[in-house]
Amino acid sequence: MEYQQNLDTTSRGQRLINWIDERYRMRELMGAMLHVYIPKESKTYYLGGITLLLFLVQVVTGSLLALYYRGTPDEAYDSVMFITSTVQFGWLIRSIHAWGANLMVIFCIIHLLRVFFQAAYKAPRELTWGVGVALLLVTMGFGFTGYLLPWDQRAYWATTVGSEMAGAVPIGGEFLLRFLRGGETIAAATLSRFYGIHTLILPMTIAALIGIHLLLIHQQGLANPRQPAKTAPEGNLPKKGKPFFPNYVLGEVVSWYMIIGLLIILASLFPVGLEAKANPLETPPHVKPEWYFLSLYQILKFVPRVMGVLLPMVAILMLFLLPFIDRNPEVLPRKRPAMVTLGIMALIVIIAFTVWGKIS
Ligand code: HEM
Repeated sequence: MEYQQNLDTTSRGQRLINWIDERYRMRELMGAMLHVYIPKESKTYYLGGITLLLFLVQVVTGSLLALYYRGTPDEAYDSVMFITSTVQFGWLIRSIHAWGANLMVIFCIIHLLRVFFQAAYKAPRELTWGVGVALLLVTMGFGFTGYLLPWDQRAYWATTVGSEMAGAVPIGGEFLLRFLRGGETIAAATLSRFYGIHTLILPMTIAALIGIHLLLIHQQGLANPRQPAKTAPEGNLPKKGKPFFPNYVLGEVVSWYMIIGLLIILASLFPVGLEAKANPLETPPHVKPEWYFLSLYQILKFVPRVMGVLLPMVAILMLFLLPFIDRNPEVLPRKRPAMVTLGIMALIVIIAFTVWGKIS
């Protein structure tokens, strides 16, 4: 009897699937999405998926925070205080959101480094790389705009410094500064502007970019780190290797569990704090931007402002154009020593300036 019931349920489920499939050919779509192969050496491929997970964590925790947050200078600070002290698990959600933001930037950078050192940016993956660079910039934009929202002293003054950096851009800098601030100084217009950018414009942009990024990756398959890439996309889709589903997906899910564990531990042991309410008349002694802007902030102290701003702009442009600049088809690090050395040197300079900015 029970067996018969189970059979009925299965066939009911099956009928529903068939019903949907007849209309939307979902099986075909799922097959095309899941039954692909990826190169065997696939541990480092988890990094992109981890960045994706962290984005999803940000969407969930950010939506919960938005239920209580109020985006005006009079109410923002008190609403964050309320979330931290009164809302059930509010402190944890806020901490996960803050730690998630940092981890997302970290994993985005590590993912970029793996793509760089395994030469996965080379033809035919120029666009995938370009969209990736845009993703990194948008991720940092989230950090910059989110920093102001608690409206405490650190938020207010770090944004003052950050927006001044934007104001030093030689052409259009003045416009950019006023556009970011919504006026001369950081005030109510800045907060509502940042809140809108943080919760509407950037999420829509990043969702579209991630969609394009994944679509491009799906169309070409992942690059084999041992073989030079072929330019014809159909020539790149591996016919053998590790099945994406379920083998790769299982590994990715395990890495997701580990990252969620790490996030909860970090957020519980080091909950994010709140300084005194923003006071435009009182500059605190050590105003510093977020760690991922520290190297730029430190460089700006020693070179003329215009140079300090032009330099990162040129660096970003070079990063976008990297696949067109580096036309050597080799992928193994020992066969591309110049690029690998350049990458390591750039990394050392950025880390050194970041540490220097932190301790000075
Ligand atoms: C929100 C940020 C990002 C997300 C969610 C994301 C997601 C992913 C995923 C899931 C993959 C496939 C698995 C893997 O290779 O790790 C991938 C591959 C790739 N990503 Fe990203 N990515 C992001 C940022 C970036 C950045 C910053 C770059 C470089 C500038 C980049 C360039 C690439 C390239 C070229 C591939 C193809 C690699 C290959 O064929 O082996 N991505 N990305």
